[in-house]
Amino acid sequence: MIKVKFNKKPNGENEKKKEKIKIKKKIPPKNNKKIEEKKEKVDKTPKKTDKKADNSHKDKIDKIDKIIQEKTSLKKDENPKKEEKIEEKEKIKIDPNKKIVSEKTGFGYKGLGSRKILFDDDTKQYLYCVYEPVLDLKDKLIKNKLIHYFRIRAEVDIFEFDMFQKHKQLEDSLNDLIKENNIIVSPQSKDKIFYYIFQEFLGYGKIDIMMNDDEIEDISCDGQDIPIFIYHKTYENIKSNVKYTDKEELDSFVIKLSQLCGKQISVYEPVVDGKLEDGSRLQTTLGKTITKYSTFTIRRFRKDPLTPVDLIENNTMSIEMAAYFWLAIEKGASILFCGGTASGKTTMLNALSLFLPNTFKIVSVEDTREINLPHENWIAGTTRTGFTTTDKNKSGKDIDMFDLIRVALRQRPRAIIVGEVRGKETYSLFQAMTTGHLSYSTVHASDMHSLIQRLESPPINLPRALLTALDIIVFLNNLTIKGKPVRRITNVTEIIKLDPETNRLVTISPFYWISELNDTFRDTKGSKILKKIRLENMWDEDSLNKELNNRIKVLEMMMKNKKRSYLEVGKIITEYNNNPKKVLKMVEDSK
Ligand SMILES: Nc1ncnc2c1ncn2[C@@H]1O[C@H](COP(=O)(O)OP(=O)(O)O)[C@@H](O)[C@H]1O
Ligand SMILES: [Mg+2]
Repeated sequence: MIKVKFNKKPNGENEKKKEKIKIKKKIPPKNNKKIEEKKEKVDKTPKKTDKKADNSHKDKIDKIDKIIQEKTSLKKDENPKKEEKIEEKEKIKIDPNKKIVSEKTGFGYKGLGSRKILFDDDTKQYLYCVYEPVLDLKDKLIKNKLIHYFRIRAEVDIFEFDMFQKHKQLEDSLNDLIKENNIIVSPQSKDKIFYYIFQEFLGYGKIDIMMNDDEIEDISCDGQDIPIFIYHKTYENIKSNVKYTDKEELDSFVIKLSQLCGKQISVYEPVVDGKLEDGSRLQTTLGKTITKYSTFTIRRFRKDPLTPVDLIENNTMSIEMAAYFWLAIEKGASILFCGGTASGKTTMLNALSLFLPNTFKIVSVEDTREINLPHENWIAGTTRTGFTTTDKNKSGKDIDMFDLIRVALRQRPRAIIVGEVRGKETYSLFQAMTTGHLSYSTVHASDMHSLIQRLESPPINLPRALLTALDIIVFLNNLTIKGKPVRRITNVTEIIKLDPETNRLVTISPFYWISELNDTFRDTKGSKILKKIRLENMWDEDSLNKELNNRIKVLEMMMKNKKRSYLEVGKIITEYNNNPKKVLKMVEDSK
């Protein structure tokens, strides 16, 4: 028995790993069992024994064929009908009443998959429609046979191949199997069959197109027979035409997803929180435990994170605010980002971190990887939990935020980025600030009052005095403007001091968002931090304003020239840091 394993290469920009091939001919019995189980689940159609099958494997294939034949003889007739029905349904769905608002093609093997977003004028709803090749019964039989042979015959264990090589390897193996077993298949059918095999071995099965659609932020499946919902960047929560039709199919997919995160979901441990290979976050539950059905939610990792340029363009902040953050961060201000769920805290944290000078050593600490920076001197740490479920049973194998921050401090960073503070790690972080480390983190709180309450209560228990180590608090909100949901920085608050008599924090707001009716930001010109920077650099008012204006000009140039990706923005920021005159000349030249 031979093990076949395809691992996707992690997508992190900073993780350029060498390619290795390991040839393995033996596998531990544990894995053997897994493959057997999978086989039973995957192959549901009967197949003929091939006369020319390799002798050494013939017996095994015969046996498996037999089992499958017995197990699925009833399903033989059901399957194609079901499939036809789905096909018909899809055709109805594209009726002329439905407008195509967006279309993407070229997904999967030979780009045979596509997706459309339709708008139904009657129900005023959007629908995310996936279109994939249709296999007839014969194609399906060949597909299952190939998967069989492939699982049994393949002898290489491929680790850390890049996607291109994996693709080629799989294609070559399948072509060999077709030849060796004298399988007669038309080129068209072959492509369609390969499409599904690739999706199963190298992709995410039914949700593969969604996982490759950059416009999707999250994917959620609430159970079998319920359409999968996606969160689209523009159209938000919309239904899709994809669903898992039976319990077994969904359960085994949820098990596969958990395994892709390196975790095991079971009745004993029915919830898995993990990270998929492309950095996406997975939350999944096993059916008949805490949820009736198996469910999963995937929050996609943004390979191309939003940058300050994007956030100015979509009016999450003003260009003056961006220039202010740029100068403040470069000169060493620590910031805490506050807001509700999905108010854009992490996104803003990541975008503004681009203003950190490239020479700073940065250590980031997160539960799951979300932060993505162009900086070279950056160590990205993620917690490792899952060996035990409760804090009490925590073993040395579990490494939480608190541990990671302690490790981070020993790595002598200039700046520490913490994805989200929730517990006792907050204390360590604030202490780090008092000892001169810059810190950037997020916390779930909607306003100053609830923030202080949250920080001072268990499990955080932060003494109020430590809050003064922080320079800026940024409040973010989800708002609806002209019927459209938007995100705005609603307030930028600088902490001045703790009044010893009243025990109240003295703050000032250099910027705030005005209102739904006047969707702009007020610059109160009341920043203590800018004043401090001005004095430290011995600038007069004019010099400070000139410096801010220069940065505004650079940001404007980036917007005008569509330099928005985090790599491009990071590069220009670094250049400005090293040689502002050169960049300002570029600004002049580009006018
Ligand atoms: N200012 C913004 N403009 C557009 N999309 C945003 C903005 N901020 C966040 N998003 C999107 O909203 C989702 C949630 O944002 P995130 O930063 O993770 O929120 P939080 O950390 O507050 O929970 C992400 O998919 C992100 O891409
Ligand atoms: Mg967040």
